[in-house]
Amino acid sequence: MAGNPTKCSNINIPQTVLSLCILIVQIGAFSLQNCTVQDETFQLKVLCYKMGFFKVPADIPNKVKYLDISFNSISEIQVKDFEDIWNLSHLNSSNNHISNIQDGTSQHFPNLTNLNLAHNRLKKLSGGLLQGLTKLQVLRLDDNAIESIDPHAFNTLSSLKVLNLTKNKLKQIHRVQPVLASPSLKELLVGSNRFDTFNSYDLSRRSLTVTKMDFSNNPLTTFQITDNIFPVLDYLDMSNCGKNTSMMWNITDKAFLNSVRTLNLSGVDIPGESITALLQNSSWASLNKLRLNEMKGVKVEALLQAACSPKLNVLRLKGNKISKLTNYMFQHCFNLTELDLATNEISIVSAPVFKGLTQLRKLQLQLNRLSHVNNSFQLIPTLEFIDLSRNRIHKLNCSDFANLTLLTHLYLYGNRISEIRSCLFKNLQHLEILKLGTNQLLTIGSTFEHGPQSLRELQLTYNKLSAVTNGTFKSLSNLRVLDMSNNQIFEIKGQAFSGLINLAKLLLSSNRITADTIKDPKVFLGMPNLKLLELYSNFIKYRETTLHLPPFEHLKSLKIMSIHSQRRGIGKIPSNLLQGLTSLNMFYGGSMNLQYLHPDTFNSTLKLWFLDLSKNAFGNEQSISAEVFHPIQRLTKLILKRSQLHSLNFLLDANLSRLSVLRASENTLDVINKTLIQSLPRLRYLDLEKNTFTCDCSNAFFIDWAMKNNTTQIVYLSKYACSYPPSLRGTYLADLNTDSCNVNVDFICFVCSSAVVIITLLVSFIYHFLYWQVIYAYYLFLAFLYDSKKKQMRHQHEFQYDAFISYNAQDEPWVVEELVPNLEDEQGWRLCLHYRDFEPGRPIIDNIMDGIYSSRKTICLITHNYLRSNWCSKEIQMANFRLFNDQKDVLILVFLEDIPTCHLSPYYQMRKLVKKKTYLKWPKPGDDARIFWQKMRQALETKEDPDKQNIILSGEECRLTSRIL
Ligand SMILES: *[C@@H]1O[C@H](CO)[C@@H](O)[C@H](O)[C@H]1NC(C)=O
Ligand SMILES: *[C@@H]1O[C@H](CO)[C@@H](O)[C@H](O)[C@H]1NC(C)=O
Ligand SMILES: *[C@@H]1O[C@H](CO)[C@@H](O)[C@H](O)[C@H]1NC(C)=O
Ligand SMILES: *[C@@H]1O[C@H](CO)[C@@H](O)[C@H](O)[C@H]1NC(C)=O
Repeated sequence: MAGNPTKCSNINIPQTVLSLCILIVQIGAFSLQNCTVQDETFQLKVLCYKMGFFKVPADIPNKVKYLDISFNSISEIQVKDFEDIWNLSHLNSSNNHISNIQDGTSQHFPNLTNLNLAHNRLKKLSGGLLQGLTKLQVLRLDDNAIESIDPHAFNTLSSLKVLNLTKNKLKQIHRVQPVLASPSLKELLVGSNRFDTFNSYDLSRRSLTVTKMDFSNNPLTTFQITDNIFPVLDYLDMSNCGKNTSMMWNITDKAFLNSVRTLNLSGVDIPGESITALLQNSSWASLNKLRLNEMKGVKVEALLQAACSPKLNVLRLKGNKISKLTNYMFQHCFNLTELDLATNEISIVSAPVFKGLTQLRKLQLQLNRLSHVNNSFQLIPTLEFIDLSRNRIHKLNCSDFANLTLLTHLYLYGNRISEIRSCLFKNLQHLEILKLGTNQLLTIGSTFEHGPQSLRELQLTYNKLSAVTNGTFKSLSNLRVLDMSNNQIFEIKGQAFSGLINLAKLLLSSNRITADTIKDPKVFLGMPNLKLLELYSNFIKYRETTLHLPPFEHLKSLKIMSIHSQRRGIGKIPSNLLQGLTSLNMFYGGSMNLQYLHPDTFNSTLKLWFLDLSKNAFGNEQSISAEVFHPIQRLTKLILKRSQLHSLNFLLDANLSRLSVLRASENTLDVINKTLIQSLPRLRYLDLEKNTFTCDCSNAFFIDWAMKNNTTQIVYLSKYACSYPPSLRGTYLADLNTDSCNVNVDFICFVCSSAVVIITLLVSFIYHFLYWQVIYAYYLFLAFLYDSKKKQMRHQHEFQYDAFISYNAQDEPWVVEELVPNLEDEQGWRLCLHYRDFEPGRPIIDNIMDGIYSSRKTICLITHNYLRSNWCSKEIQMANFRLFNDQKDVLILVFLEDIPTCHLSPYYQMRKLVKKKTYLKWPKPGDDARIFWQKMRQALETKEDPDKQNIILSGEECRLTSRIL
């Protein structure tokens, strides 16, 4: 989809192009902002459920096979939402607000096999909606508002097997007809619609391939089959049909439903006689499973008369308020293998009730009111599974199950049993699973002393056991799972579990176990195959750094240890606590208020690959060191959620070259630097949600890497909020613009070399073409500086001189012979002349400045010599500046020679004055000089007279001039 990021960084290209590259790269495979991407073998899965999306997220990788966008607020699906996606096999868009799917969208899914549109707002299925889904097998449209289906909607669905239209608004069965265009439809679920009549000819007259049909929860008043349209129907669900206790049932040929093996008539709203008739009239030739749960106002005995037949194997009678199991109740159901009587009110079981049920293997009596067992089951020696959970049984007798030699499952949880004697299991040679949880057992010291040896799973959770004595389980050599969680165990004797040579799981969580309880390593002796040990939610707490005897030493096969959530905090993990656990793969050590991990903690657990240390108190710099991880180089998952971590720097030298998942959310991490990322070369999944990120260039590397790299997923990156600087609170790290941080060395070099080239060009250009203008500008600038300085000093408007005379030294004779006599002697002006009035020793430029500023006017005597001299031209500039600043006519140009205006070009200002004829010209030899002197007098006499525009340069022009320069 995107270009390779490294291509951009090495080439000298302007920054605009650079940022363009970054922009493109952001659309990489792992930049999906709110979704998780799971790359399983050949199955790219994208999970975007519960993300608050209002539309299909745009950046879904195009190789996705499995896409879940359920539980969002998407209201519309458009063709362009799936622009580049062609490989999808599963699409789950259930639980949205979808009311419209653009026709043509389905063309993107030639390989789609499962489409889930359940729980949306579709009103109709248009002709184009499902067009081309030739491989679709399962289509869920349940819980929408579908009222109509286009006749051609299912035309191309040649592989469809399962169609779920449950919970829609279909009223007439002929509306469903279009779906039969799918030739291989097997399961048609149209329950919970609004059908009131089912006439088979409305649906079809030909035979259908449907094997499972669900009509449940429709207000059917007529159910009529007049053609053999269901020749292979296996499962028919008519539960909760009928309306106002009536439903006309008319199957015109008894053979029409004779393939049905499972029938559900639970809660049908018709009277008992009708059901009886229904069950008897039709020939349910194959029926062997019948569900009659929650029948309303029906007498079970009468029902059984009709329902029972030699063919019936499974009968469910849940929730029928049966209070008593009477003699011979099931005598006609003598071939039952499974009888479900759960959720009734049975308190009395008369022993002969099961007489004759010679095939019964599974009996469910949970959620009844039995208070004792009383030999009731003596007569069903075939029983393999009996569920007596959640009754009121408080006492069991030795003989209660004495005959049930085939029993494998015995569920007695949720009763009031306080004692179980070993004689109960005397004949239960095959018992495999025994559930005794949620009773009132205080002790099991001798309960299992003689077996049952076959027992594989023993559940004793939620009792009141407080101690486990030695040898308690010594006969249970086949036990695989022992669940004693949620008791009050505080004492475990040495060898308490010995004999459990096959035990794989030992669950001891939520007890009162302390460090003392397990102090003796013999406690866990005798379980050479134990794989899982759960000790969480106990009271284990250590103060010592090293234990005299490490408690788990004998658990050589242990793979998973959960010791998290110790209720008083674990204090310390002694450095040798895990000694001997050489097979340990996974360690759960969260929520223990742990503040320090000894570097030797995992010295024996070299195979550890999963470590959860979340919710501890590692706020201190020294809490975890890199050495902790040195023995466990196989670590691939590390969980450090909510552990008060300020930094992950301890991972820098941890050498975790295999770490692929790191979760460190809800800490106070602020900066993730490059070295950290580089120290975890195999990282695939990084979760840093809810940290306190600094949103500045210190995280620039992380942001860029998170967006660009396509090996590591940064989960929920878009939700990482800025905590610093305060002005950026409420914004997101991923939104930070890092372009300005991204300048690399190449780029700097590029900029510098370009600058040098450009400057060189510019300088030579200027030197060549604009030399004078630059010099002029330089002096103009000096003049400007001086002018500003002078202006501050100059408050009084009194001038020392009437005119400053600027001239070239070669023109001095004229000054001495003509100018001074005429102006000073004759007309009485005071002149400032540098041969006379300049302060010796002072910098010449200062002298000029002073001269100009202490004179009312400046008279420049322009000759060729004058123009050649730098100093003279400077005087003009200064005068110009004064002019510019004071808005006064200060400059008088006197041309002593004929000078073409083009020669004046460097002296731009001057040229302008000349062009405007605002100058005086010394008459040619022979002409009368008196006019000249008269004009001079006039020029010198003008005071601050803004009207004399012809002499005064306006400020605007000056500004213009300086700009041009
Ligand atoms: C990610 O989810 C949040 C809400 O959890 C939403 O506000 C945000 O717009 C989503 N981001 C994208 C890119 O859809
Ligand atoms: C559909 O799946 C087949 C293999 O099952 C594959 O060869 C084909 O390329 C897929 N078609 C598309 C458009 O992905
Ligand atoms: C059909 O839809 C109903 C109602 O949403 C649901 O409970 C059921 O599990 C679905 N069954 C299948 C096979 O999809
Ligand atoms: C059953 O349906 C057939 C065919 O429509 C009809 O002739 C017959 O009268 C119906 N039987 C009852 C009891 O309604």
